[in-house]
Order: sequence, then C-alpha cells, then structure tokens
Amino acid sequence: MNAVPTHLAVILDGNGRWAKKKGLPRNAGHVKGARVLEDMCEIVYNKGIKYFTVYAFSTENWNRPADEVSALMNLLRDYMKNSVKRAMKNNMRVRVIGDKTGLDKDLFDSIEELEKATEGNTGLFFQIALNYGGRDEIVRAVRKLAQSGADLTKLTDSELNEALDTSGVPDPDLLIRTCGEERISNFLLWQLAYSEFYFADCAWPDFNEAELDKAIESYSSRTRRFGGLAEGEA
Ligand code: IPE
Ligand code: IPE
Ligand code: MG
Repeated sequence: MNAVPTHLAVILDGNGRWAKKKGLPRNAGHVKGARVLEDMCEIVYNKGIKYFTVYAFSTENWNRPADEVSALMNLLRDYMKNSVKRAMKNNMRVRVIGDKTGLDKDLFDSIEELEKATEGNTGLFFQIALNYGGRDEIVRAVRKLAQSGADLTKLTDSELNEALDTSGVPDPDLLIRTCGEERISNFLLWQLAYSEFYFADCAWPDFNEAELDKAIESYSSRTRRFGGLAEGEA
C-alpha cells in the first residue's frame, strides 16, 4: 500500500470540450479550468501532497489558432499577477518549468517576480509547465551542460537530472490526465519513468476533490516495483 503521492503531476485536459458541450467558446473552458486549478492547489496540499506539477501550455500548443493562444497567454498573465498574494497566504512556492525565454517579456517578468517572491515558502511546491515540452527540456539541459564546459562523454543520469527544469524535485509518483485521453503529449518524459498513471473521464473544469480522491485511492492500491520485486514477492 502506498500512502498519498509525494508528487502529483496532472495533464489538465478537456477545457475546450467542456466549453463546447455547454455551447460556450473554448476560452470559457480555460477560464473555468484556471479557477479549478487555484482550488486544487489547496486541496492537494491538504491531502498531504508536497509537490504538484501541472501542464498548462505545451511547446506544441502554439499551433492552435492565434486567438486561442493569445487568450491563454492573457489568462496566464492574470494568473501570475494574482497568484502572488494567494501563494504567500498559503506558504506555496511556485516555479514555472518550460522555456520561459519563448514568452512575452511582461509574462516572463511576472513569472520571475512570482518565483522570487515565493522562493522561501515551505508549503506546497507548485510547478506550472508553460511553453513546456519534455523533449525540449532535455535538449535545453544538454545544451546548458555543454555550455558550462561539462564533459558530455561522461554525462551521468544524476547530472542530467539536475540540469532539467525540475531539478531538486523528486519524480512524480502519480500522473493524472483528465478527459479520457491516454497519452503523455510530451509531458515530463524523463521524470515519468516509474510514475503510476491514472486517467479520469471528466474534463478538467469538472475535476474536484472527489475525483482526486478516486485517483489517490487507485494509486494507493498499486504495487510499485521500480524494476525489482515488491516486498513479499521474493
Ligand atoms: C487543456 O484543454 C488546456 C490546454 C491544452 C491549454 P484543451 O484546450 O486541450 O481542451 P480540449 O482537449 O481541446 O478539450
Ligand atoms: C496537452 O494537452 C498539453 C496541455 C494540457 C497543456 P493537449 O490537448 O495539447 O494534447 P493533445 O494534442 O490532445 O495530445
Ligand atoms: Mg486537449
């Protein structure tokens, strides 16, 4: 039996479909999804989860129509600005993973501000994947190591791990993806090596504490082996 996951990762999916079903524009789903995410940060922390990583915008999401991309960027702008107060109140540390240099300067600046302001917080460690792709993260990490003069012919697993955007954070124990899709879509390719996967049918804007409890319950009944044998199996 596993206890609650130490690190929960979530692919927030289905905002668009949620809105369409209600006859609303896709952006209404993103707005509701952002609100659900705010609540979820408090709920996961109250469950005993220490690290929470969410996929908010992928390196491939730039391929969406320009009006949807700009609506998402505006939503993220608001999110970064409004998060400082709440994060401080909840003692939450926020980090954005992904290629921040590919974002508009003002968004980049408010991310830096939020990260700096919450750096010393010791409650939930919340990572938002933004302009994030697992392949891009690995390529940037290798480039960074090469630029720092590291001998790449002797590169180790732990050196590469520490050069990733997620450095210092343990791998996710549980990955949840909402809205019925069962794929990784370029999320945390390195870090998910031994994570448990859980697929929820409900769209992200409908996700709530009861849905989270179902995922944690499923997780707690899994046997994790990490390539070896579990206790009592030898
Ligand atoms: C997830 O919802 C949010 C982002 C990818 C930005 P989607 O926008 O992917 O919603 P669906 O999958 O089209 O319903
Ligand atoms: C993955 O969802 C990216 C985010 C949730 C930010 P997508 O909706 O972009 O994934 P695909 O295109 O269905 O694989
Ligand atoms: Mg989607």
